[in-house]
Amino acid sequence: MNPTPSKADALVQEKSQKKIRAMFDEIAPTYDFLNHFLSGGTDIYWRWQTVRKVKAKLPSHDAPKILDVATGTGDLAVMLSKIPNSEIIGIDLSDEMLKRARLKKSNIRFELGEAESLKFPNETFDAVTAGFGARNFEDLQQGLNEFYRVLKPSGVAAILEPMIPRNGVVKNFYQWYFKNVLPKMASLFTKSDFAYDYLPRSVAAFPQGEDFLTYLKRASFREARYYTMTFETAILYIAKK
Ligand SMILES: C[S@@+](CC[C@H](N)C(=O)[O-])C[C@H]1O[C@@H](n2cnc3c(N)ncnc32)[C@H](O)[C@@H]1O
Repeated sequence: MNPTPSKADALVQEKSQKKIRAMFDEIAPTYDFLNHFLSGGTDIYWRWQTVRKVKAKLPSHDAPKILDVATGTGDLAVMLSKIPNSEIIGIDLSDEMLKRARLKKSNIRFELGEAESLKFPNETFDAVTAGFGARNFEDLQQGLNEFYRVLKPSGVAAILEPMIPRNGVVKNFYQWYFKNVLPKMASLFTKSDFAYDYLPRSVAAFPQGEDFLTYLKRASFREARYYTMTFETAILYIAKK
């Protein structure tokens, strides 16, 4: 039985930073464990692929400055910090998520911040990334406009998201797992049923593939394209300023 479908649907339809923050504050203690457990560890591979692509597309390999938006517990930021001489800043709405990030790496600046109003001057970063975060933005277009603004010319944006596979058989299995199995497994480890009810609904409602590229193009990005991974269960968008 689904515990709070209407509440989760309401948040998907009308995202509010306040409610999103409260949800992530609540799941922060179990976030890392559940992420790896429910994805069978593939989330680590997806972040690693993201870092690989960002590194390959960086306009300058000389001490690149990278902003990881919606950094959460910092897993993507920590991986990005392996790029030689890089300087990484991670920002997020949720203090509870950030507390856990700070325990992982002390030489990354982890700060409170909103994607929709980045507190950095124009043309500050060589790359801006967001792993599994953009789906939760209150205003996706405004967030991507901000990514564009803070990027240096030729800077690269990388956005990683879960994907609903297009192939019928894989799609059916994925939707069954996502809607029925995943929330039940998550409920064994967290009291926040709501977050794992929200997750499949937010993925289903989020623009995917060409639809998402439209948002990137509207933010003025060029060379926007996407790469699918692991039977189309994850998607990485890469775009250049
Ligand atoms: C699913 S977690 C992803 C964390 C991390 N990037 C990762 O790869 O695991 C999503 C994060 O996005 C943050 N978030 C959602 N909306 C945001 C916004 N508008 N601005 C900044 N952070 C936001 C949440 O607080 C949460 O920590």
